[in-house]
Amino acid sequence: MKIIDTISEIENQLQGCRKKGETIGLVPTMGALHEGHASLVKRCTADNNISVVSVFVNPTQFNNNEDLKLYPRTPEKDYELLEELGVDYVFSPSVEEMYPEEDKRVFDFGQLDKVMEGEFRPGHFNGVAQIVSKLFAIIKPDNAYFGEKDFQQLAIVRDMVRQLSMPVNVIGMPIIRESNRLAMSSRNQRLSEEQKKNASEIYKVLRESKSSMSEYTPEKLSDYVIARINNVPGLKTEYFQIVDGDNLQQVTVWNDSDYIVGCIAVFCGDVRLIDNIRYK
Ligand code: PAJ
Repeated sequence: MKIIDTISEIENQLQGCRKKGETIGLVPTMGALHEGHASLVKRCTADNNISVVSVFVNPTQFNNNEDLKLYPRTPEKDYELLEELGVDYVFSPSVEEMYPEEDKRVFDFGQLDKVMEGEFRPGHFNGVAQIVSKLFAIIKPDNAYFGEKDFQQLAIVRDMVRQLSMPVNVIGMPIIRESNRLAMSSRNQRLSEEQKKNASEIYKVLRESKSSMSEYTPEKLSDYVIARINNVPGLKTEYFQIVDGDNLQQVTVWNDSDYIVGCIAVFCGDVRLIDNIRYK
């Protein structure tokens, strides 16, 4: 496994692979890797001749400086895991390498980034689109892997690829959970044992809501989920929305769509967690 921190070097290496007709897979990450990331990497190495994992904490997608500062960084551990998983290249550039000058591009995702994460983290998805478009331009992957945990991010990346006519196949991967079913996240490292226990209620409530969905309208079910979660000590729901999985707009009746997902953001102390569940 080669660890590369410059654009010119990774481009050189991959040019050689491409000439040999090898397929290239990319897993973009911000490091502090866990089993969720590993599941994407495993699929990437299985699908492609050459697998590249980027490890880069992208400053332009953080709208809160404190969150950026506190974001966990465990490069040595990450490299060890990636080596074990059989990755060919790790691309871990500096901020100066990726942003030699301010990226002034503004993307237009229509309604997709006006809701949920987009509403509560203004500018977040523009930053995601900036970095992912740069990574796609540098690596030129045939396939790129993203987790459904970040459900809205996946929709944004698909839309960006479509808008920019990028020849990248975007593959969404299921959510990997801890043994208590809390969705794995690099941010979980910042939770105490007590907080982890409380946070495990999030998915429990989502599951329960799914089993009783026929008894409620989507709006009433949302109210129920929010009330139940806010009742757990230390948890505060930022939003819970039941949306069409394609356009991310809220549904008012279950018959509005045959692809419906409930997306949630919850503060557990000062740690912000997201999760989602597919209703149909
Ligand atoms: P990061 O949070 O490191 O996540 C990298 C990828 O791993 C994302 O596609 C995310 O959805 C996926 N992932 C995280 N936790 C997961 C879980 N529990 N199960 C399945 N997949 C999971 O998302 C980002 O980084 C950044 O926004 C990035 C796309 C790298 C752009 O900077």
